[in-house]
Amino acid sequence: MALMPPALRPACWALWAALRTGDDLIDSTDGDATERAARLSRWTDALEADLRRGTSDDPVRLAVVDTVLRWGLDPEGIFSSFDTVREDAAGRRLETWAEWSSWVRSTNMSWAEQCRTLLDRAGVAMPLRWEQIEGFSRFLDGMYLTDTLVDLPTDLERGDLLVPMAELARFDVAPDDVLGRRWTPELRALVGELTARARGWLDQPGLTAGLHPVPAILLRTTTGLFHARLRAVERSGAALLRRTPRVSAVAQWRVLAPARARAAVAWRLVPISAPPPAAGALTGASAEARPGSGRGGSDGHSGTDGHGGTAGRPGGARPVLPPKPHPSGARPPLIDADRMPGHVAVIADGNGRWATERGLPRHEGHRAGAAALRDIVHGALEIGLGHLTVYAFSTENWRRPAGEVSELFRTMCAELAEDELFDHDVRLCWAGRPDNLPTELVEVLEHRQRTTQDRSGLTFTLCVNYGGRAELADAAGELARAAVAGEIAPAQVSEHLFARHLPRPQLPDVDLLWRTGGDHRISNFLPWQSSYAELHFTDEYWPQVDRRDLWRAVTAYTARQRRLGAAPTTEPEPAEQH
Ligand code: IPE
Ligand code: IPE
Ligand code: MG
Repeated sequence: MALMPPALRPACWALWAALRTGDDLIDSTDGDATERAARLSRWTDALEADLRRGTSDDPVRLAVVDTVLRWGLDPEGIFSSFDTVREDAAGRRLETWAEWSSWVRSTNMSWAEQCRTLLDRAGVAMPLRWEQIEGFSRFLDGMYLTDTLVDLPTDLERGDLLVPMAELARFDVAPDDVLGRRWTPELRALVGELTARARGWLDQPGLTAGLHPVPAILLRTTTGLFHARLRAVERSGAALLRRTPRVSAVAQWRVLAPARARAAVAWRLVPISAPPPAAGALTGASAEARPGSGRGGSDGHSGTDGHGGTAGRPGGARPVLPPKPHPSGARPPLIDADRMPGHVAVIADGNGRWATERGLPRHEGHRAGAAALRDIVHGALEIGLGHLTVYAFSTENWRRPAGEVSELFRTMCAELAEDELFDHDVRLCWAGRPDNLPTELVEVLEHRQRTTQDRSGLTFTLCVNYGGRAELADAAGELARAAVAGEIAPAQVSEHLFARHLPRPQLPDVDLLWRTGGDHRISNFLPWQSSYAELHFTDEYWPQVDRRDLWRAVTAYTARQRRLGAAPTTEPEPAEQH
C-alpha cells in the first residue's frame, strides 16, 4: 500500500477489504463449512446487487462499489475468486503441484489484475495482463508458497494442510505427522525444499523487463519482503509448527524504507489521473437509471436528449455524442413509450448469400453486415430502445470453413476497436463463451464491456460464440453446484431462480425477435429469454437492411396484441391499453 501512488490507495484498500472479508467469512470458526460458505454467498450476492444499484449500506461493499464504478473495473474476476474461496470452506486437499498452482492462481490472480488495471487506468502504462508477462504466474506461486509456509501453524490449528500430497509422499512425510505437529527429519527436509522452491519461484529473472519503472520497484520490493519472510521460516525450525514466523520490524524496514523513498520520488514524476466518484456511489443515491435494472423502460428519445451522464468514467472521458442521423434524412417514428418493446433481439442473417450473389467472397458479406449493424445501433438510439441484442456468431458457426471464421473475427475486432459506436450512449455487453475465440477479440469485447458499463442509453448485447442450449446447461450446472454446496434446496428452483443463474441474468425477456434473410427459424438463439417474444421475419439479407427496417419492425410490434396467455381483450385498440 505504501508504495502505491496516494491517489490509488483508497481503491487498493477497498479491494484489500473485500478480499479480507471473503477470507474471514470462510476462515471463521463460527458455524460449519456449509454455513460459512452460505455466509460468503450472501455477502457476494449483496455485493452484486449493490453494484447494480450503484451504492451500498455496508461500508466495505460501498468502498468496493465506488472503486469498481469509479475505475471501471470488471468485477467478474472478483466474483470468480470468491467462488474458489467459497469452495475452501470445507478444507482442501491438493494432490499435485499443478493442482496447487491452478488453485493459487484462481484465488489470487484476479486481485493482482485489479491492481494492474488501476495503475493502467491511472495513466501508468501497463498494457499487458499479468498472465501475459513471463514469469508472473510463477512469481505469484512463490508468494503464495511463502504464505503457505508462514501460515502453517494457523492452518494446522484448523486441520488444513495446503501442501500437495504428492510432495509429502516424495519426502516420506505422513500427513498425520504434520497435522499432529511432529517435527521429523523428513518434515525438516520437506520444509527446506519448500523454502528453496518458493525462493526460486520468487526470483523470476525477466519479471520486470519492459515493465514501467515504478511498478518494477513495487515488484522488486515485494520480492525482497517475501525473501525476508522465507528467512524467518528457516530460522523458526521446529517452532514453525506452533508459532507464526515473524519478520522483525528492522528487517522489514530495511527493505521498505529505501523502496518508499524511491517510489515517492518516482511517483512525483508520473502524472496520475484519478476519476471522480461514480454518481450516487458515495452519496447513497441509487443509480436507478442504470439499464438492466428493469424491463421495457423507454423514455421516448433518450438517445437524443443527451442525459446519458457517462462523461467522466474511465474510458468515457469524452462526452457521449448524440446518434448520427440516417444519410437519407429519415427521422425516427414517434413511438408511444407504453408500447415500445423493451428488448429487440436480431438474428442478422444473409451476409453470405448477399456476397455470393454479388460474386464476392463471403467475408465481404460480413464486412457489409457490420456496416448495416452500425446503422441499426444509431437507429435504436434514435428511438430510445433499451436493449438491442444481436446474434453475431453462434456455437454452431464453428462448422464453417476456418478462413471464413477467422475473417469474420477479424472484422469484429476491427469494428469493436473503432470508436464510432462507442462515442455514443451505448453500453456493450458480450454474451457467449470465450473458448477458442482469438485473444484479441476476447480482449476488445471485455474492454468495451468494461469501459461502457456505466452508460445509460442503449444496452447493446453482442452474442459471440453464443449458444442458447449451452447457456441453459450453464445455468443448470450453476444451480446444481449451489444445491450441492447447500446454498439452495432443489425445491426452491423456480423460473425466477433459474433466470438468476443464467450467465447473463440482467438480460431481460425479448419482446421482439427479428430475423432477416428469409429463413423462419430460431437457430439456438436466446431460447429462455424469447419464450414469449413476438416474431418478425423479413426476406432481405442483413447487409441490405438499415435503421428504417428496425423502425418498421418496432412499429409493427406496437400493433400486436400480446396476451401472454390471457384471454383476448374485446377492444384491441392501442389507446385502450393505457
Ligand atoms: C449471418 O450471415 C452472419 C453469421 C452467421 C456470422 P450468414 O453468414 O449466415 O449468411 P448466409 O445465411 O449464409 O447467407
Ligand atoms: C444464425 O445464423 C447465427 C447468426 C446469425 C450468427 P446461421 O446462418 O448460422 O443459422 P442457420 O444455420 O442457417 O440456422
Ligand atoms: Mg445464415
